Amino acid sequence: MPDPLDDAAFRAALGRFASGVTVVSTVYEGVDYAITASAFSSVSLDPPRVLLCVDSHNRFHHPVLQTGTWAVSILADEGQDVATWLATRGRPLEHQLDRVPHHRSPRTGAALADDALAWLECRTWQAYDGADHTILVGSVEWAATTDERDDPLMYYRSHYGSLVRRPVSERGPDLPGPVLEPDTDSGGG
Ligand SMILES: Cc1cc2nc3c(=O)[nH]c(=O)nc-3n(C[C@H](O)[C@H](O)[C@H](O)COP(=O)(O)O)c2cc1C
Repeated sequence: MPDPLDDAAFRAALGRFASGVTVVSTVYEGVDYAITASAFSSVSLDPPRVLLCVDSHNRFHHPVLQTGTWAVSILADEGQDVATWLATRGRPLEHQLDRVPHHRSPRTGAALADDALAWLECRTWQAYDGADHTILVGSVEWAATTDERDDPLMYYRSHYGSLVRRPVSERGPDLPGPVLEPDTDSGGG
């Protein structure tokens, strides 16, 4: 019999997966629900689908299952305070967005964080049981980006951080994309 999985090793291994950070929100019965979430991923380009894993213990869980719609803000480096706040367990639900600079999504009116690089509106296509998380696969119905900011907020081993980009793009020289100067690490575009 192999030894059972060491829970600490499992958590430590997952913590080594660096990720971006999002805010995901929905409006349920007139109340804004929003969480910080990093378990977000692209799934399909055609049709456009993304996924989000939601902890079933979160207050966000029931509302997002009920509405079937959710808005994603992909946070910029400036969004760290927003990320910290919306990950604070037990924060008051009412008026939780008072300290989050935000605007409203065009389709469902869900909150979109201003301190972001891009925004998506999604409609749940399938919800899968993932044990203590529910895996929402959403059809993307609207997306937008901004040129005002170009540095993502990152998360690694329980620390927020920022990205240092190498000058050579994986897209190759002939494809459109941000062009970064070799001697700059502050982003470009
Ligand atoms: C960097 C970071 C990433 C997180 N990612 C997720 C996630 O992907 N899914 C999730 O359900 N909770 C995630 N959380 C935890 C929630 O943000 C946190 O539990 C939040 O307080 C839940 O709010 P609620 O109880 O109002 O729903 C994350 C927290 C942090 C700090």
